[in-house]
Amino acid sequence: MKITVVGAGFYGSTTVQRIAEAGYADEVTMVDIIEGKPQGLALDMMQSRPIEGFTTRIVGSNDYAVTAGSDVCVITAGLPRKPGMSRMDLIEVNAKIVGDVTRQLMATSPDAVFIVVSNPLDEMTALCAKVSGLPKERIIGQAGMLDTARFKHFVSEATGVSPLEVEAITLGSHGETMVPVPSLVKVGDKPLRDVLDQGQIDEIVQKTRDGGAEIVGLLKTGSAYYAPSSAAAKMVEAVVQDSGDVMPVCAWVEGQYGIKDVYLGVPARLGRGGIAGIVELPLADDELEALRTAAEAVRTKQADVDSFL
Ligand code: APR
Repeated sequence: MKITVVGAGFYGSTTVQRIAEAGYADEVTMVDIIEGKPQGLALDMMQSRPIEGFTTRIVGSNDYAVTAGSDVCVITAGLPRKPGMSRMDLIEVNAKIVGDVTRQLMATSPDAVFIVVSNPLDEMTALCAKVSGLPKERIIGQAGMLDTARFKHFVSEATGVSPLEVEAITLGSHGETMVPVPSLVKVGDKPLRDVLDQGQIDEIVQKTRDGGAEIVGLLKTGSAYYAPSSAAAKMVEAVVQDSGDVMPVCAWVEGQYGIKDVYLGVPARLGRGGIAGIVELPLADDELEALRTAAEAVRTKQADVDSFL
């Protein structure tokens, strides 16, 4: 099994490390435009193998030749946000980068499943699908796994319950119209509304939506990458192992939730061919409405995202 990660920045290199250490791939290749960066990081990670006890090969290069025949390609190339920026502020510069990366990967790995993480996420996922021309189920965006993890974190902090005992999900866009779903949150065995009052729940929902911005504000020179890379690596694993696990991801929606023809955050079953099916959860009326609003919010930008190329 061969995985490629494009972009050897914080997000990309941490994703490579997580995949390599998990041990399900034979080889992970990492490509970046900066000369020496992917090579140096790959060498450093290779030298951790005797200590960590894994045998995955890690190859860094500025040349896509090393990526040939990859089963899964993760696109992390692009600029991260600076404090005060919205993810949408990145669209012009990152569209050019993601468009170029997609073309290069299509030349070497046309049979791969593509996982996009560059921002603005919903638009970059749609762009990758357009440029590649691949069937929509082979292109997946990573956002819901991360937003869900943040939602669980804030619920855990507010309730004192272990994050491993919090059940939760976020849907919608990876931006202003993110839809954390309080009606489906369980803390231990209890519904969230039995544990926290509405004011506390609203606060957690807002903190989840602002989760990325909070970290950008603290870091000042980059954006989050530990939780994001965990999310991306979990998705790669589900695809490679054909697990059928249901995860919140950015997927092409074709009528589910009364929404059609747009890339949007929904729960989906992941397998060897990418998206194996979208799962329709029972949402409260206001949550369903928020999901439909999110779809309309991202639809227009997605439709003409190739105008930025
Ligand atoms: N091809 C390959 N790599 C590229 C290209 C390109 N055309 N353009 C830029 N890169 C590389 C940069 O050289 C850099 O090493 O992408 C990397 C980005 O790394 P960071 O600046 O550390 O950003 P990171 O935190 O990894 O975030 C990457 O993920 O979460 C999103 O918003 C974030 O869009 C950003 C992306």
